[in-house]
Amino acid sequence: MSGFSVVDVNIDSTTTALVTGANRGIGAHFVSQLLERGATVYAATRRPDSIDVPGVRVLALDITDPEAVASAARGAGDVNLLINNAGSSTWADLLGDLDAVRAEMDVNFWGTLSMVRAFAPILAANGGGAVVNIASALSWSVYPGNGAYAVSKAANWNMSNALRLELASQGTLVTSVHLGATDTDMIKGYDLPKNDPADVARTVLDGVAASKIEVVADESTAMVKAALARDPAEFYRQFLTA
Ligand SMILES: NC(=O)c1ccc[n+]([C@@H]2O[C@H](COP(=O)([O-])OP(=O)(O)OC[C@H]3O[C@@H](n4cnc5c(N)ncnc54)[C@H](OP(=O)(O)O)[C@@H]3O)[C@@H](O)[C@H]2O)c1
Repeated sequence: MSGFSVVDVNIDSTTTALVTGANRGIGAHFVSQLLERGATVYAATRRPDSIDVPGVRVLALDITDPEAVASAARGAGDVNLLINNAGSSTWADLLGDLDAVRAEMDVNFWGTLSMVRAFAPILAANGGGAVVNIASALSWSVYPGNGAYAVSKAANWNMSNALRLELASQGTLVTSVHLGATDTDMIKGYDLPKNDPADVARTVLDGVAASKIEVVADESTAMVKAALARDPAEFYRQFLTA
């Protein structure tokens, strides 16, 4: 028990989950594994036609659209597990296209926060429950070519820390998830070792069921986190060109 959740979070037939970005990638694995564990699942997506999974309740939801977020909250008042999985990666530099930089913040920070704001009263009414925010190893590091994404995931991480404190009194667990390269469309153009998205989803659900406030999904992310305790010059030197 972490001490942050007033009630235990089970993932079973008592769970009603909402997953954002549920149509593909890690989100699709959350949906199938939640169903396997007996949960009721709202699969939220910008493209409802792209989900054809028996037994799920499909919701049309762009998390950057305030009216769509409000509508989702009106239509899913029985949720006790909110998985903020939807994420944007434009590969924008901070000194590049400002619209692309803003797009990362709109989804990974503002959209995610708006989901928590809309569902916090619902979680309270349903006994506390849990919020899971999918952040990244890049909450704790950055490398050339992903400045905007990394900044937005750093904001996502500390948003989770702040929300955990703000939601503790209503018994809501807030779990921040950190992972490295995972085999989904997001990084399909990159030839490097990748996590299996099914493993990531399983690790996250097991972590939530164990009331963990943070899930570090792989060894490379654990190494990135450990590097924070050292001189940053050690880490960032590798990226500097003469
Ligand atoms: N894959 C990795 O290496 C990696 C590493 C660290 C963290 N992550 C994080 O893991 C999470 C899942 O990503 P993934 O790897 O599964 O990527 P993915 O396959 O690219 O899926 C991204 C999902 O987010 C949805 N989405 C994007 N913007 C949205 C919006 N405004 N409203 C609603 N849904 C939106 C997409 O919907 P559409 O289909 O409509 O575009 C899609 O379902 C993300 O938060 C990502 O940042 C991934």
